[in-house]
Amino acid sequence: MYSFFVNGCQVSTSKKQSLLRFLRDEMHLTSVKDGCSQGACGACTVLIDGETCKACVLQTDRLEGRSIITVDGLSKWESEVYTYAYGEAGAVQCGFCIPGMIMCTKGLLDRNPDPTEEEIKYALRNNYCRCTGYVKIIAAVKLAAKIMRAGKIPAAGADDWLLGSRVHRLDVEEKVLGYGKYPDDYYLDGMCYGTALRSKYPRARVLSIDTTAAKALPGVIDVFTAADIPGENKIGHLKHDQYTMIPVGGLTHYLGDAIALVAAEDMETAEKAKKLIKVEYEVLPAVHNIQEAAAEGAPLVFDEETTNVQAYKHVSRGNADEAISKAAHVISHHFETPWTEHAFLEPECAVAYIDDDGDVMIISTDQSAYCTFHESSLMLGTDKVKCQNALVGGGFGGKEDMTVQHLAALITYLTRRLVKVRLTRAESLLIHPKRHHFEMDFTMGCDEEGHIMGVKAKVASDTGAFASLGGPVLERACTHAAGPYAYENFEIEGRAYYTNNPPAGAFRGFGVTQTCFATETLLNMMADEIGITPWEIRYRNAIRPGGVLPNGQIVDESTGLVETLEVVKEEYEAALAAGKPVGIACAMKNAGVGVGIPDWGRVKLIVEEDAKLHIYSGASCIGQGLGTVLVQMTVTNTDLKRDDIVYERSNTWIAPDSGTTSGSRQTMITGEACRRACEKLMEAKGSDKSLKDLIGQEFYGDYLAKTDPLGADVPNPVSHVAYGYATQVCILNEKTGKIDRMIAAHDVGKAVNPLSCEGQIEGGVVMSIGYAVREKYPIDENCKPIEKYGSIGLFRAHEIPKIDAIVIDKPGLNVACGAIGIGEITSIPTAPAITDAYYRYDGSRRYVLPIDNTPYERKE
Ligand code: FES
Repeated sequence: MYSFFVNGCQVSTSKKQSLLRFLRDEMHLTSVKDGCSQGACGACTVLIDGETCKACVLQTDRLEGRSIITVDGLSKWESEVYTYAYGEAGAVQCGFCIPGMIMCTKGLLDRNPDPTEEEIKYALRNNYCRCTGYVKIIAAVKLAAKIMRAGKIPAAGADDWLLGSRVHRLDVEEKVLGYGKYPDDYYLDGMCYGTALRSKYPRARVLSIDTTAAKALPGVIDVFTAADIPGENKIGHLKHDQYTMIPVGGLTHYLGDAIALVAAEDMETAEKAKKLIKVEYEVLPAVHNIQEAAAEGAPLVFDEETTNVQAYKHVSRGNADEAISKAAHVISHHFETPWTEHAFLEPECAVAYIDDDGDVMIISTDQSAYCTFHESSLMLGTDKVKCQNALVGGGFGGKEDMTVQHLAALITYLTRRLVKVRLTRAESLLIHPKRHHFEMDFTMGCDEEGHIMGVKAKVASDTGAFASLGGPVLERACTHAAGPYAYENFEIEGRAYYTNNPPAGAFRGFGVTQTCFATETLLNMMADEIGITPWEIRYRNAIRPGGVLPNGQIVDESTGLVETLEVVKEEYEAALAAGKPVGIACAMKNAGVGVGIPDWGRVKLIVEEDAKLHIYSGASCIGQGLGTVLVQMTVTNTDLKRDDIVYERSNTWIAPDSGTTSGSRQTMITGEACRRACEKLMEAKGSDKSLKDLIGQEFYGDYLAKTDPLGADVPNPVSHVAYGYATQVCILNEKTGKIDRMIAAHDVGKAVNPLSCEGQIEGGVVMSIGYAVREKYPIDENCKPIEKYGSIGLFRAHEIPKIDAIVIDKPGLNVACGAIGIGEITSIPTAPAITDAYYRYDGSRRYVLPIDNTPYERKE
């Protein structure tokens, strides 16, 4: 028996297991998060005898007599200070890393009440945060230290929750104190566990599956194969080519394909059972890359397809060939960008059970409860399904596809049992779609003054084992490859190829991170050839209100690219004058799905029995702060106060479908739907009624963002309702070659909450510093990802440069009170700005990401 203290109480266990498993599975202290169980992420950080430790690496037999503190053991004073400081600094986004960060904060401040910034960074160095870029977490620790020393929490500011207020996000406390629930935090009576046996080979024919021995193992509830699926085996976000399980006779597409699904009373038994399943395969040659996929006579990734080309896009306007042939300066080059792993801190998890209506209820972490509902319903062959979003521990595009939700739904449907299905970190790294690897050939022609005459390009992407969002990502890569500039001749041809690699799909930037790298690098080369600065060439070409983009769209008054350039000009030129290596790049990114696809935002406001207004929308908050946005939108458009309003997480039976959290669309599209619902509420309420008078009433608002399809035969198609614009500058340290500073100026329309906007910018910039200089997702000859969470190259707190996030508040858009989404664009111009700075540093142009010969490069 091992005996130790947890939050002051003596506990004992006879089982030798990790402290993490003991705290979560036996004590149900779910504030201690399981991010990787590999000793890498830090989400499970606790204090042991005052020292920070990762609970996943310590075994219970090593804890005799020791004292463990989790956030649940904080004093009331500490809880209040950390909640205030993290809220005031804007340090909380998805929140999954936050309890671990709080324990690092406490561990530091208990020893050192007045730490320097370097000491804070050192204290946080073992904990990853994928959302915030650490800037605001560091600020929160500083602020907490100051408050602790003063012994007094500042009086609440004059936050009115109107649009433009720097309010504390509404979910700060539950995330800081760890009581907010992600799906894995559900420990329910009678819960069993599900896990899938995955394919042994990336491309093989399944000849037979024998589950007899696995089914006979005590503790196993059942083992299922494709034959047990009551509805469609093939689901998928858009194209239905994602197999729930590969049937006997079927072809595997990658190592993540499920072959069988085990339900057992505990995870240990489920894992043992998987080893007892016998599968016979006929191993076939795999398709490893774009070249193999495109080769004549290539093996087909899908039996049912006649080619490995998953998507083809051709975007053309004007005459690029002719314009380039007449240009005074022409530059061509080949570019490549890597696969990138989202590395959200929370691995995928779903809980499912049969509810009182007899429906399959799925508690999910995803980017759209309605997508989970639709795809699970399709697979089960019934719409007696509901989905409720729990907290979502980050997504960045990687939680748009089904991974565990449908598997949990299937087990519940077939067994009537309450079940949890959770991916291990290794499974997560393999299974969810990544950012696409792109190979690109670009040519740009300019006149003597640097005005772009035309751009022509050919791009190819590896979309891996199923389509996911490979088509739309390719489309966005193509439509945005022209850049935010005013010229008329543009042509691009793109193909996405199926291979037997892990799938690729949505990732913050949605294809634009790839083609922007090529366009912006060519523009920097062009500036040098012409003899003007990279800033100047952008200023000359920049799209301005009323101007026409290469896609023919006339842009509106909210267009703020020039403002983002002007605001960085002084710093950029000062760095140049001082001889510092400095790089620059611009970007544009659509808000909303656009290109003629119906794009609905929907919100229902219900005055419930508590006489409060409850906001319901089927729009997932994945950490970006949508709930806070909708409350601010409601306060601004009604006469209600913050305390009159309750934000409800997305579900599929009360909340109306408001589309996926993708394409930086929710702030604008669901925001406008919310504004319209507020108008109806105020019509009913007038100035003489209170919410009590309206109990039981509902107010519905919707908004359809109307756009023209790609290639529409109109002179000036509206491809997207709105675009965000940005300029980023990278300044290197001339001695060390490290990044000293990033300046990121972003046009966001009306900034709903500038604090959140800054947090999005800082997080996006740090994510893309990794993309530019270090992050890799290498795949071996068996199409298997090689790296673990701790070795893919994510940036840590002590490695980040100074980041100046500049929010350009330029209203002008006629929806959502002028607010434009910012989630994706923050990551787009970073890589070309950084590569340009390195060129100024050592004279070497880089065309392949992550770039080589920098202090950040990992030597194999
Ligand atoms: Fe840190 Fe999301 S807030 S990982």
